[in-house]
Amino acid sequence: MCEQYLDLPITPVDTAFGLMAEYDADPHPSKVSLIAGAYRDENGSPWVLPSVQEAKARLKDDNHEYLGIAGSPAFVNLALLLTFGSKLTTKLNKNIASIQTVSGTGANHMVAVFLARHLRPARVFIPEPTWINHQTIWAQTGVPLEDYPYYEPQSRSVDLDGMLSLLEDKAEANDVVILQACAHNPTGVDLSRSQWAQVMELVLRKKLYVVFDSAYQGFATGDPDTDAWVIRYFTEELLFDSDSECPGLCVAQSFSKNFGLYGERVGAIHLVVPRHLSPQGALSELKTLARAEYSNPPRFGARIVETILANDELKRQWKRDLVTMSSRIKAMRRILCKQLEEQNTPGDWSHIESQIGMFSYTGLSAMMVARLRTQFHIYLLPSGRASICGLNVGNADYVASAIKQVFGEVIGSHEIA
Ligand SMILES: Cc1ncc(COP(=O)(O)O)c(C=O)c1O
Repeated sequence: MCEQYLDLPITPVDTAFGLMAEYDADPHPSKVSLIAGAYRDENGSPWVLPSVQEAKARLKDDNHEYLGIAGSPAFVNLALLLTFGSKLTTKLNKNIASIQTVSGTGANHMVAVFLARHLRPARVFIPEPTWINHQTIWAQTGVPLEDYPYYEPQSRSVDLDGMLSLLEDKAEANDVVILQACAHNPTGVDLSRSQWAQVMELVLRKKLYVVFDSAYQGFATGDPDTDAWVIRYFTEELLFDSDSECPGLCVAQSFSKNFGLYGERVGAIHLVVPRHLSPQGALSELKTLARAEYSNPPRFGARIVETILANDELKRQWKRDLVTMSSRIKAMRRILCKQLEEQNTPGDWSHIESQIGMFSYTGLSAMMVARLRTQFHIYLLPSGRASICGLNVGNADYVASAIKQVFGEVIGSHEIA
């Protein structure tokens, strides 16, 4: 027993966190980090949203008591409204079980444990590629994991045919499909509305269970309602406009990126329960899971979000903050793309501008990424994923010329990206 414990294999550090430590230790004055999925302003500094600053100033909260197991009821209601909009939230009244969670990661984890135990899917289908933690989280549940193709590198677009045909062949009723609601991490490519309609047709017909991971609401377009479109569309269709026998769907919601509250760990789960079932059992089970894992979610971040979303003036400011962040990212995409073109970098770089959200799947190979790091002190993930937030007017030119040089060298040595 003791030996088994001592013999545990060493699990590799998460790639992104390992690279961040390397970046922090790098003394080079021109180093650039395109690693983290956290917003940075035009000076490369973390940005506290003005709406968050104002909410904190108004809060003056000396309450350090425990929240209830399901979190703050006011927060949970506002999180629901943000996800589903007011019309649908009213309609959903009797079909929803929601609790506050320990951010988006906690929401994904609770959903996985809950579904593994109570839906008992034969498989969970995960996009390839996706946020790395989807695999880690679901691997803990014992539910067999299956990748579905998400990205087509030649066209740099969603591999809809690959995705549909794999699900058509392999998915069975009650299987779980993970879908990212918007601003797909890591590719930066989302499905169009007509493509979502095709996915929905398959989900309905095959009676699959959809988990929407909603970590970037407001980050894709700058408008939280537009970015929640697909969740609302699926919910309407699955529950109200069809005779479907779908087992329901759920949303794992994060407030890390869209409120810049990374360390406060603010999130929620919304389980949409089929019309013929009561959500009470699901709610009590979610609370049991929460009680066993962490007892009560954190108070402070939820209070900030609650203060903003419950106040018209602060909510308007927050929406302006979303536009500030999403427009800066769009502007940086444009600048990098322009610089690459102006410097006559071989290849087509228009995808950097057309992709959406925080990340760009640049198309740079692992070898190019390694050279960017060792020769130029520019850090991105080995998959070629770059966090566009790390760019600013002061470093975009440097990054573009480094990419050009590395690209030229590697092409010269006949490597294909
Ligand atoms: C797709 C996706 N889901 C969920 C999360 C979870 O974020 P957090 O736990 O910080 O809310 C992230 C974070 O990067 C993400 O990219």
